[in-house]
Amino acid sequence: MTIIINVRERIEEWKIRIAAGFIREGKLVAFPTETVYGLGANALDENAVKRIFEAKGRPADNPLIIHIASFEQLEVLAKEIPEEAEMLAKRFWPGPLTLVLPKSEVVPRVITGGLDTVAVRMPAHEIALKLIELSERPIAAPSANISGKPSPTSAHHVAEDFYGKIECIIDGGETRIGVESTVIDLTEWPPVLLRPGGLPLEEIEKVIGEIRIHPAVYGKSVDTAKAPGMKYRHYAPSAEVIVVEGPRDKVRRKIEELIAKFKEEGKKVGVIGSGSYDADEVFYLGDTVEEIARNLFKALRHMDRTGVDVILAEGVEEKGLGLAVMNRLRKASGYRIIKV
Ligand code: TXA
Ligand code: MG
Repeated sequence: MTIIINVRERIEEWKIRIAAGFIREGKLVAFPTETVYGLGANALDENAVKRIFEAKGRPADNPLIIHIASFEQLEVLAKEIPEEAEMLAKRFWPGPLTLVLPKSEVVPRVITGGLDTVAVRMPAHEIALKLIELSERPIAAPSANISGKPSPTSAHHVAEDFYGKIECIIDGGETRIGVESTVIDLTEWPPVLLRPGGLPLEEIEKVIGEIRIHPAVYGKSVDTAKAPGMKYRHYAPSAEVIVVEGPRDKVRRKIEELIAKFKEEGKKVGVIGSGSYDADEVFYLGDTVEEIARNLFKALRHMDRTGVDVILAEGVEEKGLGLAVMNRLRKASGYRIIKV
């Protein structure tokens, strides 16, 4: 049975306390963060963490992020905290930044997928922080979607994937950022960007200087031993996704051309982007890159429900949140990209 706790209008502590009780009992609780919804369990309870992998159908070698509500919790989870990690944590936590650090003995190996490192973040969301505080434990939580599906940005999305399969969903409304956290590996020098996300790379570089971008961020096939998550297909709707990248007017013309071509083949066509098109389904993402990021996963899920055969997606400039948006779009397309 799944209990849905509604705190959309007002965050009442007694309600969060019920969910915290579930966490302490080794149960699974989906909760909102500022990025996407997480599927949480007590990070120090191996059996509870195993259930996360089972529920998601997640490969055992793809490690989870541990969510914390205080700096003291970081000291327990990480063996060492380099100066740069401290600088970033002070500047950006709570926030959409995940730090990969050497793990301490207390972190169960199921969480790290056998790695000697651990990924940690302090989410900037009142409900998430309250849940961690009241359960008095760090919470391991991947995005609350079935493995391979777009991440959930509302409790409704979580229910689509997990209703009846987990004990509790906290409904805190739609998430503010809409793409997952930025993941930085600080166990190497220079630090490595493993996943672009809600905190722009430019902001991080202002604090600690240049960061190497892992080639997998652009989809190049490389050794993924350090970041196992990168080798799996992600965000994939059932329809074929094609990303069209380039200057706006050219992208627009190319998409119009493709709509005509697919229609002639008898296919149902969807478009996601900032323009209006004469397609079977059009999902307007917004004009700013922040709006586009916020609506991206919702759009992919929506397109799936409409049963379109092909989804054409407008590319965006890879600045700020644009790097995360393009990374998710390319993955969703399985790297079917047209450059104009
Ligand atoms: O915004 C977010 O980060 C959301 C919310 C719920 O906090 N969580 C999230 O978790 O996106 P997940 O499991 O969907 O993605 C975690 C990413 C994966 O790509 C995983 O491979 C990587 O972080 N990761 C986790 N631990 C790691 C480690 N020790 N070394 C390298 N990468 C790691
Ligand atoms: Mg995920």
